[in-house]
Amino acid sequence: MSVSPRKILVTSALPYANGPIHIGHMVEYIQTDIWVRFHKMRGQTCYYVCADDAHGTPIMLRAEKEGITPEQLIAKTSEDHQADFRDFAVDFDNYHSTHSEENKELATSIYLTLKEKGHINRRTIKQAYDPEKNMFLPDRFIRGECPKCGAKDQYGDSCEVCGATYAPTDLKNPISAISGTTPIEKESEHHFFKLNDFNKYLHKWTRAGYLQNEVTNKLDEWFESGLQEWDISRDAPYFGFAIPEAEGKYFYVWLDAPMGYLASFKNYCEKNNLNFDDWAKADSDTEMYHFIGKDIIYFHALFWPAILHGSGYRTPSAIFAHGFLTVDGQKMSKSRGTFVTARTYLNHLNPEYLRYYFAAKLSGGVDDIDLNLDDFVFRVNSDLVGKVVNIASRCAGFIKKRFDGQLADTLHNEELFQKMINCGEQIATYYEKRDYSRAMRDIMALADKANQYIDENKPWIIAKEEGKDNELQAICTMGINCFRILLLYLKPVVPKMAEQAEAFLNINSLRWSDLNQPLLKHTINQFKPLMTRVEKEPIEAMIEESKENLAPANSSPTSGPLADNPIADEIQFDDFSKVDLRIAKILKAEHVEGADKLLQLTLDIGGVTKNVFAGIRSAYNPKDLEGKLTVMVANLAPRKMRFGLSEGMVLAAGPGGKDLFILNPDEGAQPGMKVK
Ligand code: 2FM
Ligand code: ZN
Repeated sequence: MSVSPRKILVTSALPYANGPIHIGHMVEYIQTDIWVRFHKMRGQTCYYVCADDAHGTPIMLRAEKEGITPEQLIAKTSEDHQADFRDFAVDFDNYHSTHSEENKELATSIYLTLKEKGHINRRTIKQAYDPEKNMFLPDRFIRGECPKCGAKDQYGDSCEVCGATYAPTDLKNPISAISGTTPIEKESEHHFFKLNDFNKYLHKWTRAGYLQNEVTNKLDEWFESGLQEWDISRDAPYFGFAIPEAEGKYFYVWLDAPMGYLASFKNYCEKNNLNFDDWAKADSDTEMYHFIGKDIIYFHALFWPAILHGSGYRTPSAIFAHGFLTVDGQKMSKSRGTFVTARTYLNHLNPEYLRYYFAAKLSGGVDDIDLNLDDFVFRVNSDLVGKVVNIASRCAGFIKKRFDGQLADTLHNEELFQKMINCGEQIATYYEKRDYSRAMRDIMALADKANQYIDENKPWIIAKEEGKDNELQAICTMGINCFRILLLYLKPVVPKMAEQAEAFLNINSLRWSDLNQPLLKHTINQFKPLMTRVEKEPIEAMIEESKENLAPANSSPTSGPLADNPIADEIQFDDFSKVDLRIAKILKAEHVEGADKLLQLTLDIGGVTKNVFAGIRSAYNPKDLEGKLTVMVANLAPRKMRFGLSEGMVLAAGPGGKDLFILNPDEGAQPGMKVK
């Protein structure tokens, strides 16, 4: 009787659309991709979907800073993310965005169902507000002195120096990280999801085997302190979906983010003629798994099942949380160069080294995993290159040269073959449980056995002896068969290498069910090295590049002008080349009534006159400026100020306050000249 395949939907957490993927993220995508590839090889119907998490204040502000729309920012980021994933062989069936029609429909309809069932509450709360920027400030955008240890420039929710957590109102001398002004408190009506309505349901759900034990224990602490209402709305300006019948209110990014899992899958269903409801509705016979980092358990193990249950959708079959990545035993660090982006890694190293190394370290729990760079070199070289690839390279040459690529028609050591295939179910169980480290350990133990077999049978000696052709062919055929089994087992982890091995073995794409069919009387192709040894130099170059990439952020000193005012995010040369800098002659400089920092300048940039308001009044007597030269940004869009239209920006250098320097006329400089 044949068993029908399982129907499995798998997700990884959706990366924010305002930053690059780094190797810390890759732990999760690699972990999930291995699991999905394993299930596909086992013949299950399995879909792996993901999306960019595109909403929220940081994305809105980042786009504003870059002078582009949020839609442009998220489109560009999505391209970069997808290229990184593709190059790491993370093979999504669908990659979408939370800023999509499908997600808007889902978020809106789920919200309306919850509202109709009485699970949404509204009340007015007080929050920090930036009066200059005219917006409410998320905690992360308020900075000030830690109320506990006094450390300066700490976030509104926690102190990076002493680890204290607090409310933004507790910060001393708070300022808005956006405009630098002191925030005020302002009232606004917010929408809340009444999580406590699901207390009983969640209490049971979180103990029903859907979560890892460590996670259930963590959740107990939250149950003990009582489930709080969850604020799911944000005020305009906000990049997100408008809440129906609530003027100026948007869904908080974390409300529609997990819905993005289903929206991405809905998008896939539409393109592939699948019935989304069969998978997503409460009585579905399918399975749904979310791989996440341990920092976002609360959202996935409490809010998400409650929302799904409350709105008639199926709940997750399991949530798989993992730990964080450390490098050489420490938190990834920009200054040490261990905060490595996916792209920087790819610029230097084979992605399958990292896939294998993570697999060798992952055990299915929530412990952090460490990328020890020396151990990385050792493991990859000793296991993948030294043990696995070596088997093929020891046997392939003889088969090709002496037997025209033809394998023998019997197995030289049936017992070894049986031993190797008998481990298959145990290895499969380890994969299923995400205990990849045990799977890798067993696979490498089999590789040791195969190498031992070759050592004992010494084909290189047999090859020199007369009349031993059959024996040579049989030994090498046995070696090649061992290699095939090892590659089958390793295929979820190193899919590219497995693909090359399939080409060399001249076989179709390996599936788990091919395990016990030996390759006999079969012609193989020319062997090419499947993986080269990892060397120290590219690792060092990767660390160096990571330091360079992040130079502005790491090089911030703790004192001096850069400490208070660090160098802004890097811009590309293209951005810089848009700025048209010109020598301008100050024709007239006057005080501005009612503005104690400004001077009104009339500038000549070579036959064209520009009116500019410049904040340099404290440094100059206006009359002293007339006739002097300055550099101006000539193509800045005019800005309407309270005192009139400002048509550019003049550049002055110096520490500020009274000492701002403008150029003295120089014989060479003429108004209108381009400044290089
Ligand atoms: O923590 C994060 O990076 C979030 N962008 C993860 C979202 S996962 C899901 F809920 F969308
Ligand atoms: Zn502190």
